[in-house]
Amino acid sequence: MSQLNDPDYVREQYATEGNLETRRSVWQPTADGLEPNTEALRAIDRALVGDADVLEVGCGTGVMAERIAALPGVTLVATDFSPRFVELTAARGVDARQADICYLPFDDASFDVVYAGWMLYHVRDLERALNEVRRVLRPGGTFVAVTNGNDHTADLRIAAGGKPDITQFSSETGESVLGRKFGDVRRHDLETRAVFPDHASAQAYLDSSGEGLVLPHFDGSREYAGHVTIFEAR
Ligand SMILES: C[S@@+](CC[C@H](N)C(=O)[O-])C[C@H]1O[C@@H](n2cnc3c(N)ncnc32)[C@H](O)[C@@H]1O
Repeated sequence: MSQLNDPDYVREQYATEGNLETRRSVWQPTADGLEPNTEALRAIDRALVGDADVLEVGCGTGVMAERIAALPGVTLVATDFSPRFVELTAARGVDARQADICYLPFDDASFDVVYAGWMLYHVRDLERALNEVRRVLRPGGTFVAVTNGNDHTADLRIAAGGKPDITQFSSETGESVLGRKFGDVRRHDLETRAVFPDHASAQAYLDSSGEGLVLPHFDGSREYAGHVTIFEAR
């Protein structure tokens, strides 16, 4: 299993925004123009019925929070356990609070939709996290969760002497993991691609994860395949 749910690694990785922004910057939409955040926003929008309370967990720098908050009728609370990310999200005019998904500071049945983008693979106690999501969701509410597949950047990692990143919440496992807590789980898979204009940018991407992977030099630009799944559970 990957180091991605080691609490010390996660805390250090997200103390500041540099690593996350380096990784985000290389991703391009699918061949038919679909972009994962936009598709996740559509999934959230589909789940809204009239005025709605929405919770985002693991909001990072607040890019999605700002978009969710702009949906008509939405009252959003965005949370992350990184103080820096809460600060950055609040600076976008969003109600942002520091919270660990395993200890959500909200009453039972407080939200119509909960959104978790690329964060469930970081959580030490996934069972507890999902129980918390269930607890704060109203009956009939929707959980939208985004994650990567085992083959996401696998070719890049292998070229640099590493292995595919096998996580606890992936395209492969997400359906069964969510199926333990939710009666209806749907999925939308997207084949994305990371575009690197040169070797230095590909190495910077690897360096942002701090695993010590070293990519042999290449000339020109390269693309590596990604795989993202958006789950909708209710
Ligand atoms: C890969 S980033 C994704 C950020 C954002 N959702 C996005 O799509 O850009 C993972 C985020 O989850 C947060 N995180 C990790 N474990 C968490 C936990 N147990 N509770 C709350 N946030 C957590 C990290 O601080 C980080 O902001």
